Amino acid sequence: MTRRPLVAGNWKMNGLRASLAEIEAMGAAYDDALRARADLIVCPPATLMALAGDVAARAGLGLGGQDCHAAPGGAHTGDISAEMLKDAGASYVIVGHSERRSDHGETDGDVRAKAAAALRAGLTPIICVGETRPERDAGDALTVVGAQIDGSLPADAPSHIVIAYEPVWAIGTGLTPTVDDVAAMHAFARERIEARLGRGKSAEVRILYGGSVKPSNARELLRVANVDGALVGGASLTAKDFIGVASAYR
Ligand code: 13P
Repeated sequence: MTRRPLVAGNWKMNGLRASLAEIEAMGAAYDDALRARADLIVCPPATLMALAGDVAARAGLGLGGQDCHAAPGGAHTGDISAEMLKDAGASYVIVGHSERRSDHGETDGDVRAKAAAALRAGLTPIICVGETRPERDAGDALTVVGAQIDGSLPADAPSHIVIAYEPVWAIGTGLTPTVDDVAAMHAFARERIEARLGRGKSAEVRILYGGSVKPSNARELLRVANVDGALVGGASLTAKDFIGVASAYR
């Protein structure tokens, strides 16, 4: 089973129109050798989606949203539907990021509904899971992530969904789990996906690692078994660092 690696950049609440030049620069540095080996997508803030969609399409990068509402439209002030993201040029959307779960109280049920909305609109959901520091210290990391996978994946999800394992304590801290801990978690996640979707689909689902991925540690993290790419925050804001991370696949 060969899963094509995916390197996704999550810009979070960063980026103005001037930042679109970074997407152009990413396209210029995403050469044929790298294109042959990995998919690259960028997930800018909502304000830039439509403009970034055009720039990313010219640059040969994919586009993703950072969140979507479960409904296709209606009276939900400030929210964005999966259909709107698709219309702006997106093919992916991140759902259930830990910052959404903590800042906005999103539950596994909310995340499952958002993932289902993404599939309804023809988008690939990138479903995020990950334990907190106290949960890891208590020895509960696998239990917590297993429950998040069970609760956040739509029951009949297709194999093109993406899971992102992002330990909360590794996000924006410069800390990362050991390669052994990453390997153990990703193997466990693969089993839980299999329990939910069946073996055939589970073998095709891409499982990304996220949390303080940088050019200097990408090669070590991305060669771990069952790590099929990265969800990159801070290091996705510049073409230099983002291509530096993706270059682990050269
Ligand atoms: P950092 O790469 O900045 O740690 O962020 C990771 C993340 O949350 C990506 O979704």
